[in-house]
Amino acid sequence: MSITPLASSLKSETTVHVPIMVAPIVQCLTEALPALLLQSGEQKLWLVDCTLGGGGHTSAILAALHQKTELQGRVGILGIDQDERALERAKVRFSSEIESGEIELFHGRFSEIEDLVRSRPCVGLLADFGFSSDQIENPERGLSFRADGPLDMRLDPTRGQSARTWLLKARESEIEQVLREFGEERFSKRIAAAIVDRRRKEGMPETAKGFADFISGLMPAATRYGRIHPATRVFQAIRIQVNDELGEIERLLKEVLPQLRPGARVALMSFHSLEDRLVKIALKDREGLFVPLTKKPIEADDLEVSRNPRSRSAKLRLAERRSDEAGKSRDGEIDPDV
Ligand SMILES: C[S@@+](CC[C@H](N)C(=O)[O-])C[C@H]1O[C@@H](n2cnc3c(N)ncnc32)[C@H](O)[C@@H]1O
Repeated sequence: MSITPLASSLKSETTVHVPIMVAPIVQCLTEALPALLLQSGEQKLWLVDCTLGGGGHTSAILAALHQKTELQGRVGILGIDQDERALERAKVRFSSEIESGEIELFHGRFSEIEDLVRSRPCVGLLADFGFSSDQIENPERGLSFRADGPLDMRLDPTRGQSARTWLLKARESEIEQVLREFGEERFSKRIAAAIVDRRRKEGMPETAKGFADFISGLMPAATRYGRIHPATRVFQAIRIQVNDELGEIERLLKEVLPQLRPGARVALMSFHSLEDRLVKIALKDREGLFVPLTKKPIEADDLEVSRNPRSRSAKLRLAERRSDEAGKSRDGEIDPDV
């Protein structure tokens, strides 16, 4: 377990990340709070933003909390991210809320927050999976096809192995499987064989751009002129592998969500079908701990997609933790247009 309260002194920057589907997320996580405060008898309740990133959603949640006088000083936010850079930015953005005890920041993986969530009355959790625009813009992360930075792809470079190290060590069959399963890459066999051949003869490219160019060169010419970069699926697959993204989500759903208090709300936003499938299965079972608040996942509307193309693939699932009282008092479905 390596969840640590944040205390370091990296330089701050501003975020370029644009938060997605803010309105339904804020509504979901805040509308039941007055009732939960009354029912629980607790002095202070907590919401968890376990993918704090640039803090866009947290900032909107805070604004909603500040509008309700009965919630003043009675709801705190635990902000978690595995990227220390993101937390350093948040430390500056939310300095006054940190000082007032409204926000606490923690560095670590969301699969490891079970004890933290159990230690307080947590009645809401937001997970906005994947990576932020700040991370893709940062050449050191090696997430962008254009980045001259190292072929790394880890969101927390202090843990695990870089993409390059993995590509140098993995068996051909493992590379093929990762590209096929995590990237749904139809040329997985050909690409895995070419990677193994290249590393034997010349070694792996040092930079993300070098690797993206190498992958592009393996693709049929037609794929090079499409809307998406020909290495998109390969990058997605390797990023999922080196960050253990699906394992992280599985552990969050299985071990952390049950630590939330009865009546707690969850908002879980996925960006590809592998993530959404895990969330859907975990929330679907009506006999289980959570009741979905909408029949189908919410998607960004045309206006949001035109302003923020990254929102095109987002699927948001909202649910409530079962409890006799909360189950009966639920108002109905969340309106995505609020
Ligand atoms: C899409 S961004 C979140 C953006 C944020 N909602 C906002 O409004 O700015 C996802 C963030 O989750 C973090 N993250 C991804 N996987 C994580 C994990 N397993 N544990 C903790 N943080 C994680 C990433 O480092 C990234 O900062």
